[in-house]
Amino acid sequence: MNIVVIYAHPYDGSFCKGLLDTVVASLKKRGAEVKVKDLVKMNFDPVMRPDDLKAAKTKIYTDEVKAEQEDILWADALVTICPIWFGMIPGFMKGYFDKVFITGFAYENGVGLLQNKRVFSLFTFGANDPYLDMVKQYQCIDILWDNLFGMVGFKDIATKFFTNVPLSSDEVRQQYLKETSAFMDQIFDSRLGEIGQNGHAELLTKLVSQGYLNGRI
Ligand SMILES: Cc1cc2nc3c(=O)[nH]c(=O)nc-3n(C[C@H](O)[C@H](O)[C@H](O)COP(=O)(O)O)c2cc1C
Repeated sequence: MNIVVIYAHPYDGSFCKGLLDTVVASLKKRGAEVKVKDLVKMNFDPVMRPDDLKAAKTKIYTDEVKAEQEDILWADALVTICPIWFGMIPGFMKGYFDKVFITGFAYENGVGLLQNKRVFSLFTFGANDPYLDMVKQYQCIDILWDNLFGMVGFKDIATKFFTNVPLSSDEVRQQYLKETSAFMDQIFDSRLGEIGQNGHAELLTKLVSQGYLNGRI
């Protein structure tokens, strides 16, 4: 099993780094080939430059983007790890997906080109559950992940949310790490398509095949 871990956190003292270490250890224990993309340490440029956007038509990618695309094609599954900032993934992680999953590479005319892949995502929050529910932060992520991974053809979109992280006790953090290992086991112990998606990507594909969108996506 080939797995790319996309990690978006600026410093090593974070709880996200603890998740990253647990994820890598769990995946290796199950015999996976693992590539870690630490976006900050790689200094990945998240800004969409003119040539990056032109690549939607020209399919001429920068070396930086091309190398990422090759690894995405290599992967059977992606694992993403990030904190939630203002209800959303960090902007530099969004920039990674905007550039790497560009039209023409990841989808074309509403059809996902990255079929038969899966994503398992871990998110950390500072707030606690009732607040996050009330202000719809879980929904924001579900909607984004559907529009991103559903759109490009992923078969499974699995998410795990860790709340109240800065104020949580060592016991709770240990429990979160245990849950992370169990979450990683699902990559190996569930079949492709078994987890599924929560959204409307299949409907989109159907509408496109019936000509409704007239190739405008
Ligand atoms: C700029 C910024 C915005 C934040 N916005 C939110 C938010 O919208 N919701 C939330 O629950 N926590 C928010 N937080 C708190 C972080 O999510 C939390 O500190 C982090 O997930 C803890 O994990 P870490 O130790 O890996 O950073 C924010 C933190 C920062 C720095």
